[in-house]
Amino acid sequence: MSFDFEHYKEIYEKKRSYIKTPEALNTEYVPDKLLFRDEQLDRLWFDISDIVDNVKIAKTPTIFGPPGVGKTAVVKHIISKVLPFYCDGIEPKPIILYLRCNTHTEYSIIHSMLEKLKIKRPRRGIEIELLYQDLENKLESIQRNFLVVLDEIDKYVARGYNKKIIFNLNRMPYMNMILVGNDLSFLDTLDASTKSSFSKDPIHMKRYNRVQLRKIVRERADIISSVKGFIPDGACDYISLLSWREGGDARFAIKLLVTSIELAISQGKNSIDEKIINTAINRMHLNEMKESIYDLSPYETIALATLFIYNNGKKMDTTELHQRYERICRTTSYSPVGMKQFKRYLFQLESIGLLEKDFVGKGYSKGTSNKYKFKAQSKDIQEIIVEKIRKELDIDALKTKEAIKKGNMLL
Ligand SMILES: Nc1ncnc2c1ncn2[C@@H]1O[C@H](COP(=O)(O)OP(=O)(O)O)[C@@H](O)[C@H]1O
Ligand SMILES: [Mg+2]
Repeated sequence: MSFDFEHYKEIYEKKRSYIKTPEALNTEYVPDKLLFRDEQLDRLWFDISDIVDNVKIAKTPTIFGPPGVGKTAVVKHIISKVLPFYCDGIEPKPIILYLRCNTHTEYSIIHSMLEKLKIKRPRRGIEIELLYQDLENKLESIQRNFLVVLDEIDKYVARGYNKKIIFNLNRMPYMNMILVGNDLSFLDTLDASTKSSFSKDPIHMKRYNRVQLRKIVRERADIISSVKGFIPDGACDYISLLSWREGGDARFAIKLLVTSIELAISQGKNSIDEKIINTAINRMHLNEMKESIYDLSPYETIALATLFIYNNGKKMDTTELHQRYERICRTTSYSPVGMKQFKRYLFQLESIGLLEKDFVGKGYSKGTSNKYKFKAQSKDIQEIIVEKIRKELDIDALKTKEAIKKGNMLL
């Protein structure tokens, strides 16, 4: 046998005896009891409860707030627990569909709605107006209310898809929506009649404080495992402290809890301690950074290569960097972009933590300029950067850097 059977058996058995609800390890899991969100749950239920009587919702509820504050959990709690409970034994029941729109197009949203109504249409190629017509005809004929949750609808709009979808669905008989997103300010740009159909008072969800996070983590830990001492209170305290520092994000907190549980089990530990949590958070940051690097566009990769290759611990201003950037472009098939766009790439790199920025005064009344420095990264991350530059631009970043250092290449 080429693998360590005993090791895997141990993990399997430990997981079986320590984890009583494996579903709760998933960040999409919605617990039966949601803490600190009574007001929001009540308001959403108040807004949509007419649908039980097959009546169209008077005002479309909108829910917004930063990531990990329980927006999705609140909506799912109402539509998959409360609503079905009240609709039990009632005919006709509303048809309910939840969609996370960040990966959807206008076509795929309407297509999914038709699918829910058991209408088969090709996955692409049909005129969108015809799909809308199919949807409207079907609802008219069955005379049943349809409730669609468009979660992360702001991401759909940010990706450039048609925001008129909201107008089109809004005007359809029997059609009801719940709109959810981090930032719903784009709704203000819709036509007046659509705007007036939204609930006047959006449901705003705020970040959790440290005490709230601690309770959420403790409850989730108890749902996941009932083995005494495996997830001590001290561990929940520490996880909530770190997650509070990350911005009061409950998803981050649950992910940190779950990563710590996985580490403890695979390392054969009987209790989660500070050391395991620290390892877990490092692993999470590493994975996040890795994903952000993989996701960089070729243009952003050239900006990254510029910093990585030319920036030997020194700060460089944007003009210097842009000149070096043009030099790197010349060795690739990409033509350089102007300063304005280049600064956007630098901003993107800064936001994922790959570079440091400093404002430097240029002297009286001459304003400020930005100086940038490549932020030192662990060996793992450096390897990923080098690999990304090689794959995307066909440049050996380490060799080039070395040649410049030795003066064998133009700086
Ligand atoms: N009030 C809460 N009580 C219990 N669990 C919560 C609460 N808020 C969020 N969670 C959990 O945190 C995670 C992230 O919540 P989610 O609803 O996906 O956030 P959002 O949609 O705002 O980004 C989920 O696993 C969810 O179950
Ligand atoms: Mg969500």
